[in-house]
Formats: sequence, C-alpha cells, structure tokens
Amino acid sequence: MNRKKILVTGGAGFIGGNFVQYMVNKYYNYDIYNLDLLTYAGDLTKHHIIQNKSNYHFIKADIADSEAINILFSQEKFDFVVHFAAESHVDRSITDPEVFVRTNVLGTQVLLDAAKQAGISKFIHVSTDEVYGELEFDPTTYFSEDTPLQPSSPYSASKAASDLLVHAYNKTYGLPINITRCSNNYGPYHFPEKLIPLTISRILNGQKVPVYGDGKNIRDWLHVNDHCTAIDLVMHEGVNGEVYNVGGHNERTNLEVVKTIIKTLGKSEELIDFVEDRLGHDKRYAIDPTKLVNLGWKPTYTFDTGIAQTIQWYLDNQEWWGQIISGEYQNYFHKQYFR
Ligand code: NAD
Ligand code: DAU
Repeated sequence: MNRKKILVTGGAGFIGGNFVQYMVNKYYNYDIYNLDLLTYAGDLTKHHIIQNKSNYHFIKADIADSEAINILFSQEKFDFVVHFAAESHVDRSITDPEVFVRTNVLGTQVLLDAAKQAGISKFIHVSTDEVYGELEFDPTTYFSEDTPLQPSSPYSASKAASDLLVHAYNKTYGLPINITRCSNNYGPYHFPEKLIPLTISRILNGQKVPVYGDGKNIRDWLHVNDHCTAIDLVMHEGVNGEVYNVGGHNERTNLEVVKTIIKTLGKSEELIDFVEDRLGHDKRYAIDPTKLVNLGWKPTYTFDTGIAQTIQWYLDNQEWWGQIISGEYQNYFHKQYFR
C-alpha cells in the first residue's frame, strides 16, 4: 500500500491527541504529522509511547501563521488534513473571545488556503454539535445535519464560521472536504477545565465540584475512542462535501454525570457546589447520528462503560493531570472556583 502523509492539527490536545495515537498505532503505512502550537491546552507528554515511532512527527506551529503554514505545505505533500486545532472551552470564549476568532476562524482559513494550493485529497474539519445552538428539554428532538446553525457562545459562533468557510472552499474552489459535528467527548487526557475531568480531579483532590445553575442542562456524551473511529471512517469513506454528525445517544444531565462520578469514587454528594450559571448556557444537546451509522460507524462504549474506564484512567494517571493543574492553572482554577 502507498505511504500517505496525514497532517493532524491540534494533535497535542485532548481529542487530536487521542486521534494521533490511534492513527500512529493503526496505520503503519501513514506518516502522521502532529502540528500544534502547544497553547495551555497542548501537552506532548501524552505521546511518550508513540514519540519515537518512525511514523510519528511533531511540528510546532501556529495555524494562523500563514507564512509558516505555506512553507510547511510547500515542503511536505500531504494527502489529508484532519483539523482539530482550536480554542475549545466555552467559558474561556465568554471572557476572552478574540483568540477564538483568530484561531478558529483565521486559522482554519489559512489551512484551507494552503490545502487548496497544495491540491490535497481531502480536508476533514472537526467541528461540534454546538454550532446548532440548543435544543429544548423535549427528549424526542435531535440535531440532524440539516438543523440550522444557531450558535450561542463566542466559541460555537467561531466554529460555525469555520464550518461555513470549509463549505465555501468546497463550493468555490472544489477543495474536497468533510465536516464532522460531534457531541461532548470524554476519556483519557481530557484537559481538567471541562466538566468530567474537572469533577474527577477535584474530587480526588478533596475539593468541591462546581455545578452551574441547577445542573439540569443536558449533554450527549461520547467516548473519545468512538470519535476517533468516526473520523477515521469519514476520512476514508465520507462523501465529498458532506457533513456527518457524531454521537452515541448518551444524554445525561450535568447533575447525573457529577453524581455518577461521586458515587463511583465512593464520596458524598455534599461535595456538589451549585454556582452561578454560565452566560447563555445551552439547555440541551442531542445528536442524531443516523447518517454516520449508515456509512458504517458504530460506537463501542455506553456511557456506563466509558465513564468507569475514564475514572479508572484518572486514578491511574494522577501524575499527568497533577502536572496540568499545577502552575499556571492553579491561578485559573483559583479565579474560577475559589471565590
Ligand atoms: P483541546 O483544547 O483539548 O485541544 C486543542 C489543541 O489545539 C491544543 O493542543 C492546542 O495547543 C492546539 N491549538 C490551539 N490553538 C492553536 C493554534 N493557533 N495553532 C496550532 N495549534 C493550536 O481541544 P479538544 O477538546 O481536543 O477539541 C479538538 C477539536 O474538536 C476542536 O476543534 C473542538 O472544537 C472539537 N470538538 C471538541 C469536542 C469536545 O467535547 N471536546 C466535541 C466536539 C468537537
Ligand atoms: O458539545 C461539544 C462541545 O462540548 C465541544 O464543542 C466543546 O469544545 C467542549 O468544551 C464541550 O463544551 P461544553 O460547554 O458542553 O463542555 P463543558 O465540559 O465545559 O461543560 C459541560 C456542561 O457542564 C455544560 O452544561 C456546563 C457544565 N459545567 C461545566 C463546568 C466546566 C458545570 O456545571 N460546571 C463546570 O465546572
């Protein structure tokens, strides 16, 4: 089989990091190039097992730096770009939206331009269900690929803008593309500013768990490994120009998620601290994944099996998240939750 070159942006982050490991281990005939700026969310220690493999390469670069990106594309002939790099945390986008526009919108446009010039085989844009906005608490309604884009936060608005640019490069210039829109991920190497790893790490540190508002908001949780298999499938089998929703029908209220973690760790629900609600807090997300299932995808984790595995991973890898929440993050967490 021919060797292929795959550029993965954001491969030092949570999902991109899991995807890089999955690809390096699965496809010995692919060279995986992990391009990442190593922002606060990027961390290469997670790649200690693959870092010496001959099909793994790391490039430190900013996706919004057109000069650096154009030089890279002139030096390496990539077959696929799988684009994860982004500012990803909704709360940060509420306090500091500018970097979200720079990275998520401008950065995507710079990559699209380089990919177009280079004539790559396909650009896979990893987007989010948050571009659809929110659903009401009616359990019979879902986001489909045809749901109008109505993003609520600066984060989701910047992702929606990037989705539209990807569409535009497909329609205007004929760049082959797919867009995936996944629900909330969880699993190993999840940065502990997001609900599930934050809850686990705070409980293990003997700290209270902040639950926004009344805790009744609903998210649809998917194990990160199932997201990786979905992107692998879309990359190889996705129809040019199409959007694919990714989700496994695992809706839970935030309170249910937090209580499950507390129970599994044998702690008291008195750790729950109801705090001020997030501004513009989306009520409910729920994905209809029928189109992707028809393409041949099937998730392997239920929420119960996935959360048990994830909690065990955090118990076994305290050193990893311990170093993440030390230093700079101490200040961040302090500001947010130790008022
Ligand atoms: P993350 O915050 O954990 O990782 C983002 C990575 O991008 C980091 O390694 C960071 O260093 C890198 N990065 C940021 N700015 C960069 C820049 N200018 N140039 C190069 N690299 C840069 O994010 P994540 O949770 O892994 O999400 C990855 C992608 O998946 C994002 O596009 C996000 O919108 C999407 N997504 C996330 C979820 C989720 O639940 N986390 C669900 C659906 C879709
Ligand atoms: O749906 C996909 C999206 O999921 C991705 O596009 C985003 O990148 C990712 O961060 C995630 O966004 P959410 O805002 O849904 O995830 P977060 O973990 O920040 O919050 C999950 C829910 O938990 C949300 O309703 C807010 C609530 N929450 C969050 C935190 C951090 C709390 O109640 N307490 C908290 O401390």
